[in-house]
Amino acid sequence: MTEVTDALLYLDGVTVSFDGFKALNTLSFVVAPGEMRAVIGPNGAGKTTMMDVITGKTRPDQGTALFRGSADLTKLDEAEIATLGIGRKFQKPTVFEMHSVTDNLLLALKGDRAPRRVLFARETLSERARIDEILETVRLSAVRRRLAGELSHGQKQWLEIGMLLAQEPELLLVDEPVAGMTDAETADTADLLRRINQTRTVVVVEHDMTFVRALDVKVTVLHEGSVLAEGSLDHVSADPRVVEVYLGR
Ligand SMILES: Nc1ncnc2c1ncn2[C@@H]1O[C@H](COP(=O)(O)OP(=O)(O)OP(=O)(O)O)[C@@H](O)[C@H]1O
Ligand SMILES: [Mg+2]
Repeated sequence: MTEVTDALLYLDGVTVSFDGFKALNTLSFVVAPGEMRAVIGPNGAGKTTMMDVITGKTRPDQGTALFRGSADLTKLDEAEIATLGIGRKFQKPTVFEMHSVTDNLLLALKGDRAPRRVLFARETLSERARIDEILETVRLSAVRRRLAGELSHGQKQWLEIGMLLAQEPELLLVDEPVAGMTDAETADTADLLRRINQTRTVVVVEHDMTFVRALDVKVTVLHEGSVLAEGSLDHVSADPRVVEVYLGR
């Protein structure tokens, strides 16, 4: 099938059971290289579980999960999948609060979780250039010397996205990035993901429909572990089944 080899991410027939309950039920989800996809759906629909399968945190009982048409995500461990080029941002920011914004990015660039060793060595010129570029992308240049702990909630989320970018992922998975953000931060985050999507493939899970609309990308609606609808936001919003299980809440 051409679809398998053309896709950057290819999930088919993926089932995950927890004590007999199917969190994912023969799920098919295909993302093209360079695409940004929004994933929506009610609580418990399986959105986070899908990301767990893609990142090797959860093994499916059945099904296919391929990256770049060949790497079998059901066989690789989390570290191997990260090295392949899949980066994931969890909902809660996990920045080093007692270190500066710049040092957080340096730590991420070094891929080393031992701050003292890394920060003692300082950065090379190429690392400095890369940090400047990431600061520009995530719009944190003006606060680069501040301690991460002093940033707003939204800024911490952007810093963590920047730390993910330091690892140069080809595919970025982002779970509920705008939860707890102000309206202005939410709008800025949509802009940020669109900028990132100019060079990387993005899958973003979010409940905030204003944000999803601002992304202006194809939407997949999950329900009970399967795809209920897929298409533009206007298309899925007009689907009575989507209104019933999710949008009409
Ligand atoms: N480790 C686990 N053990 C048992 N059940 C689990 C586990 N992980 C998820 N589940 C269950 O699987 C279902 C899907 O959960 P999941 O977290 O993927 O939903 P979600 O779509 O991300 O929901 P939300 O919008 O609330 O984040 C839920 O019923 C959840 O309780
Ligand atoms: Mg979730």
